[in-house]
Amino acid sequence: MKLHAKYTDGEFYPAIVEAVSTSKNRSKAPVKVNFVGYEEASVWKAIGDLKSKKLPKAALDTKAKAQPKEKAKAKAKVKAKAKSSDKKTKYSPELTAALKALMEEEAKTTDHATLMGMPLTVVVFGATGDLAKKKLFPALYQLCLLDHFPRNLNIVGYGRSAVDLPGFIAKQCVNIKEDKRLSKDAFCKRIGFHAGGYDSEDSYAKLNESMLKYEDGKPGNRIFFLSVPPTVFGAVCQCISDKAKGTDGGFTRVMIEKPFGRDSPSFSELDKLTSTRFKSSQLYRLDHYLGKEVILNISTLRWANQIFEPIWSSRYIESVQLTFKEDLGTGGRGGYFDGFGIIRDIIQNHLLQAFMWLAMEPPASMSATDIVKAKVELLNNVQTLKLEGDPSSVFLGQFTAHDGELGYLDDETVPKGSKCATFAALVLKVNNRRWKGVPFLFTAGKGMDERVCELRVRFKQNKHNAMMGVDTNNEIVLRVQPDEALYMLTSGKEPGITAEQVRKPVVMDMDYKGQFEGAYVGDAYERMFLNTGRGDQALFVSAPELVEAWRIFTPLLHEIDEKQPEPVLHPFGLLPAGYTMFAAEHGVALNPTWHEYVAMNAGNVSEMKKVFAELDKDGDGELDYAEVTQLAKRFFDGREPTVDRVKMLMRELDADGDGKVSLDELIKGSQAMARSFAHDLTTHMASR
Ligand SMILES: NC(=O)c1ccc[n+]([C@@H]2O[C@H](COP(=O)([O-])OP(=O)(O)OC[C@H]3O[C@@H](n4cnc5c(N)ncnc54)[C@H](OP(=O)(O)O)[C@@H]3O)[C@@H](O)[C@H]2O)c1
Repeated sequence: MKLHAKYTDGEFYPAIVEAVSTSKNRSKAPVKVNFVGYEEASVWKAIGDLKSKKLPKAALDTKAKAQPKEKAKAKAKVKAKAKSSDKKTKYSPELTAALKALMEEEAKTTDHATLMGMPLTVVVFGATGDLAKKKLFPALYQLCLLDHFPRNLNIVGYGRSAVDLPGFIAKQCVNIKEDKRLSKDAFCKRIGFHAGGYDSEDSYAKLNESMLKYEDGKPGNRIFFLSVPPTVFGAVCQCISDKAKGTDGGFTRVMIEKPFGRDSPSFSELDKLTSTRFKSSQLYRLDHYLGKEVILNISTLRWANQIFEPIWSSRYIESVQLTFKEDLGTGGRGGYFDGFGIIRDIIQNHLLQAFMWLAMEPPASMSATDIVKAKVELLNNVQTLKLEGDPSSVFLGQFTAHDGELGYLDDETVPKGSKCATFAALVLKVNNRRWKGVPFLFTAGKGMDERVCELRVRFKQNKHNAMMGVDTNNEIVLRVQPDEALYMLTSGKEPGITAEQVRKPVVMDMDYKGQFEGAYVGDAYERMFLNTGRGDQALFVSAPELVEAWRIFTPLLHEIDEKQPEPVLHPFGLLPAGYTMFAAEHGVALNPTWHEYVAMNAGNVSEMKKVFAELDKDGDGELDYAEVTQLAKRFFDGREPTVDRVKMLMRELDADGDGKVSLDELIKGSQAMARSFAHDLTTHMASR
C-alpha cells in the first residue's frame, strides 16, 4: 500500500506499507513502513496506530521524483529523525525497567480531609539519632501546629535499646520552637518509644499491636521514616512489610534518607531490597534539597514567566555554576564522611537535583511521572564522568588547619593520611540541542570561608555590550541558602549630567525576606513529610533518576576509590589553588573572591591605597563598619552583604579590635593573610 505516512516528527512523507497482516487481529499486528527512497528510514507500527493520509498515486510519485533537492532535504531530515528516535535504545535495560515499573503504577494521593480525618502514625526508626533531633521532631511539630497533620497523631520513636521516655523527649525535642498555638507538652504527649532490633519480627508485631490500638478499629495511615544507616534498610523494609503494614483502607508509606547506595551496583542492590517489599508509589526517597524554597522556585522562574525560557539555552547561556560551600569541617564525624567523600555526599545528589530542575526540558505536566520522564531524559544526555581527561574533568581538594580551625586529617575519626576529597569540582556536559557546549560546573567543599549554596547562570556577552563600554556578563543567581534570594546582575547607567555615560553593575534583587514579608518558609523536612502524607511524589527521587545518576558518576568514583589521587591541600577558609584555572579550562569564568583579591594584591600598596581612598567616604582615615560593608559588597555581587560576611572582613583586618580599619591595617592585614595562607599550605604539604 502506497501512502503518505506520518513520521515521528509529525510530517507526512511518501511511504510504502509492507506486509499487512491478514490475521483477524490485523489492526494490532506491526507492519513495516518504508519511506519511499529512504532505505534506512523505516518504522514498525501497528497498522491501527498508523496515521496516514492516502494520496493519489500520481501525486505521490510526482512529489517523490520531481523535487530532488527537497527530496534530499527530506531524506536528511528523516534520517536525522530516525537517528534521534534511536534515543530510546540509549536507555539501558535497567533504566527501561525502572521507568516501566514507575509508569505502570497509578499515583495514590490523599486529600487534606482524609489525612486529617484518619488515624495517622509516624514511626521514626533511628529516633535517638542526630537527624531525628535536628529535623524530624521539629518538622512534625510544625505540621501539627499548622494543621497539616492531625494533632492527635501517634508518633513512635524506634531504636535498639530502651530509653527513659521523658529524658528521650527532652533531648530529642530540644530543637522544637514552641508556638503558643500548640504547646510543646501537648505535642510531646503524642510521642512514644518502641525498643527492638531492626530485624526483629517479634518487635514489629508488637509495634503493629500498639498502632492497631491507637487506630481503634479504624483504617489507619502509617508513615515509616528510616533515619538509620542504609545497612539496615533491607531488614526494616522486610519487617514492616511482613508485620507492620497498615490495614486495608489506610496507606503505608516509607520514607528513606540518602545515601541511596554508593555506586550503581550498591544502588541496584538497595533498590531490590526496598522495591521487592513496596510498590514505587509507597517509597519516598528523600533529598531534602528538593524541598527547599529556591529549588522549588526554579520551575516557576522558568515556566511561569515569559522572558526566561526563550533564553535558557546554549545560544545565550555561557556557563552554569552550582556551588555548595560549608564553613565547617567534619566535627568528629569524619569517619562517616571518609567513606563517602564530597562527591557522593553533596554533588551526586543535592547539586545534581538542582541541575535537573535548571536544565531539564519542560515536562508535559507537573505530575510526578512527567517530571521524572523529563529528568531522566536530561540525565540520559549527560556524559559519563571519568577521572582522566584533557582538560582533567575533576578537581579534588582537602582542607588543612588554619586560623584556629582544624584540618580534615586532624579529626581523630578520619583514617591517617586519608586522601578523601573534602572539596571537589567537576563539569557535566549535556549532549542535547539545548545545552551542547555549555559547561555545568559543580563545586562542593567543606572547610570553606562561608556557608552558602547557590546556582549561577552566566549569559554570553553580545556585540552591543562593547559599544556600551560594558565587559561584564549578566548573571542570574539563585541563592538556596543561607539567605534565600533570586537576583540578576545587570548593567545600568550611573546618574550624571556629563556627555560621557558611565555604566555600572546593577543588581535586580528579590530577596525572600523583603519580597514575601511574613511568608512562612518552612524547613524542607516539613514539606517532605507533608507530601508523603498527601502521596505527592513530585519532590522525591525516583529509581530511574538514580539509575542514571549513578551511571554518570560510578566510573569516576570507582577510579577515585582505586587510584586515590592526591587532593590539592588548601587552608581552611580558602579555595584550593588551581581551582580557578580548572574552571577557566572548562570555559567557566569565576568572579574573584575577597581572598583571591588579597592574594593577588597584598603586595600592591598603591592598589590598596586606591581602594582605601574609594571606600573612606567621610575621609577620616579609617573604615568604619558601613565602609567595610561597602568593601564586602564588591566581592559579593554588589548586594548588601550579610552581617557574617562583614564580620569576617573585620576579623581579618581590624588588628587592634577598635571596630575600624586603618590604611595601615588594610595593607598589613592583607599581607599577613597572604603570607599565612602560603605558609599553611607549605607546612601541610611538607607534613604529608
Ligand atoms: N544527620 C543529618 O543531618 C543527615 C543528613 C542527611 C542524611 N542523613 C541520613 O539520615 C540517616 C540518619 O542520620 P543520623 O545522622 O540521625 O544518623 P545516626 O545518628 O548516626 O544514626 C541514627 C540512629 O540509627 C541507629 N544506628 C546507628 N548506627 C547503627 C548501626 N550500625 N546499625 C543499626 N542502627 C544504627 C541508632 O539508633 P539506636 O541505637 O537507638 O538504634 C542511631 O541513633 C542516615 O542514613 C544518614 O545518612 C542524615
